[in-house]
Amino acid sequence: MRARVFPDYNAMSAAAADVVARRSNEEPSAVFMLPTGITPLGIYRRLVEMHRSEGLSFANANFFNLDEYLGLAPDHRASYHVYMKEHFYELINADPARVFVPDGTAIDPEAECERYEAAIREAGGIDVCVLGIGRNGHIGFNEPGAPFDSRTRVVELSESTRKVNASDFEADRAPERAITAGMATIFDSKSVLLLASGTNKAGAVAAAVEDDVSESMPASMLRSHPNAVLFLDEAAASDLGHGVAG
Ligand code: F6R
Repeated sequence: MRARVFPDYNAMSAAAADVVARRSNEEPSAVFMLPTGITPLGIYRRLVEMHRSEGLSFANANFFNLDEYLGLAPDHRASYHVYMKEHFYELINADPARVFVPDGTAIDPEAECERYEAAIREAGGIDVCVLGIGRNGHIGFNEPGAPFDSRTRVVELSESTRKVNASDFEADRAPERAITAGMATIFDSKSVLLLASGTNKAGAVAAAVEDDVSESMPASMLRSHPNAVLFLDEAAASDLGHGVAG
């Protein structure tokens, strides 16, 4: 897995946004899988700017979200539906028919997971998957121990993840379960960009890159992916040993 280290968050976000923009220009109907959270805000800001000032179009692009909390209505302020609309989909010219976010209120969540996998297949598979990383190494909501051959499914969130995300919820109670794209779903993407910023991610980044490839460190799976690149700022790269090119 290659790593690119940038001086700061803004430089990292601009470079990652360039990868998405280039792909979108080259292949207008490209299929993207996207994360929520703090890390990708800079990319979304930059892509929105490119849409407004440079005419970057997403009219034919297909978007799949990595995950959604189970039990949250699409209009719940902490849902990933709302996050994505507010930060990206409603600020560009995305076609709502080509935007997919797992339905956290599906009556049959297992069927919703199958529907999601089928929609990805129908779109021709993911071209570019953008990921953040949890402090425990999770990608999407695939917590430590997630099988590398897992597909989109319902998962239990770890206590540490619920704690990190608690402030988005009333009484600091984050949902206990979520729907997430699986490890194999992510691995099948033609290219993967994993972004990490800040010293609080440095330990997870170093473990993912330098320790054994293991289901106990989900992001380590990407080491055997043919086209996965880490985009790091210097703080997130600060626990890495030598041998990581800038
Ligand atoms: C969110 C997601 C998570 C986050 C990760 C990092 O859709 O899939 O894996 O990418 O928890 O979150 P931030 O960027 O908030 O540190």
